[in-house]
Amino acid sequence: MDLKRLFSEFLTETQISDSSEDLENYGKDWTKHFTPNASLVLFPKTTEDVQKIVVCCQKNKIAVIPSGGRTGLSAGATATQKEVILSLEKMNKIQELNPIDQTLRCQAGAVLENIQNHALENGYYYPVDFAARGSCQIGGTLATNAGGIKVIRYGLTRNWVAGMTVVTGTGEVLNINNGLVKNATGYDLRHLFIGSEGTLGVITEVLLKLTTPPQDLQVMLFSTTTLEAIMNVYKAFRDELVLTSFESFTDVCLNFVESQGRVSSPLQEKAPYYLLIEFENTSGQLDKAMEVFERCLEKEWVTDGVISQSDQQAKDLWALREDITEATSVKQPYKNDISVNIHKVPEFLSLMTQIIKEKHPSFQVAWFGHIGDGNLHVNILKPEDLTSDEFISKCKEVDVEMFSMIKKLGGSVSAEHGVGLVKKNYLDHTRSAAEIEYMKHIKQVFDPNGVLNPGKLLP
Ligand code: MLT
Ligand code: ZN
Repeated sequence: MDLKRLFSEFLTETQISDSSEDLENYGKDWTKHFTPNASLVLFPKTTEDVQKIVVCCQKNKIAVIPSGGRTGLSAGATATQKEVILSLEKMNKIQELNPIDQTLRCQAGAVLENIQNHALENGYYYPVDFAARGSCQIGGTLATNAGGIKVIRYGLTRNWVAGMTVVTGTGEVLNINNGLVKNATGYDLRHLFIGSEGTLGVITEVLLKLTTPPQDLQVMLFSTTTLEAIMNVYKAFRDELVLTSFESFTDVCLNFVESQGRVSSPLQEKAPYYLLIEFENTSGQLDKAMEVFERCLEKEWVTDGVISQSDQQAKDLWALREDITEATSVKQPYKNDISVNIHKVPEFLSLMTQIIKEKHPSFQVAWFGHIGDGNLHVNILKPEDLTSDEFISKCKEVDVEMFSMIKKLGGSVSAEHGVGLVKKNYLDHTRSAAEIEYMKHIKQVFDPNGVLNPGKLLP
């Protein structure tokens, strides 16, 4: 089939690309071990364009992949089977901020950081935040129900969606919820599309909720020596303060970040674990934080600590955590992203350490994550003496053991990165057979011909 000709019936020349560079770039996300193999990249400009593309794909049984900023880490937006890519990149307008409703309407291709800045410039705040903010698109953050570094205070993307426009796999355009705060009229379809990884519909417009910006954010960095101490520190601070973040990382991560030469830890002593906490300095929270810190020192839960003295220092402390992904990328990490109930984090970590020590002693692991959400990023670093293929196949052996342990602990094989191609064979470790069956029925309803992101998410 001459795909280019087919789509040029309703798209202009500049909205269609088959250049090898575009096929390569748009065919992959930040998951490194999949080879892109797309057939065409389409750039719709309106919901109507998207609708025409989906209808055409449905009629001609063409697999189509909704594509945002491609910062995902589970191959949810990769094209490996000659699929057509539907990039939302040209649908990037921030349309309207409504100060009474405290909502912001934008197209799905708007970049998260632009949305955050636009909200701030108008005295409001969009609180979902993570390191890929400069490249990820809002539609993708809905499709993956993105989490990040402020979930402990503001929750996941799901909490911030007041409405959306979606083109379903059947080509129907749904305008869902219209920004209503209260709407007790049955199934809330927003929540089906959020986290569906482009398998049910293409999100084309989003109505986001906004809030008021946090005041006088303070950042503290601590060093600590045991996993149990991390939990004690977490409880001590969480009981007395309203935290906006509670993050952790290991010395391995810190060494990688420091080796980039951009930022370094201001703490005197090295330690196996580091904690970064953030809170607003309102209602005497700073004094309370200092008191809790003193108590943690006395009990030897922390060995050292600093508090940011300026916005720049706060940014630098954050960089120690946020630069980990980039700093460790030289080691081609095999990435995992799991969650357990918060109190089970130490148990998970010590079981995992045991597995690695016994079965793969040459592996170095960079742990970091959102401890306050029970979410850990397990990054196995590639040893020099293994080829990429050897390394990946050994990591897949680790996956088998890790995911069966996660199942026993009642956790999730993907906390925030999503399922995509990477986790779909382990979906049953977190979801029951009945749940997966219902999901397949739902897929059938919205995309009966299976043209939207086929092969992703569902086994
Ligand atoms: C993070 O928390 O920094 C992100 O989830 C990215 C990553 O896991 O590398
Ligand atoms: Zn994360």
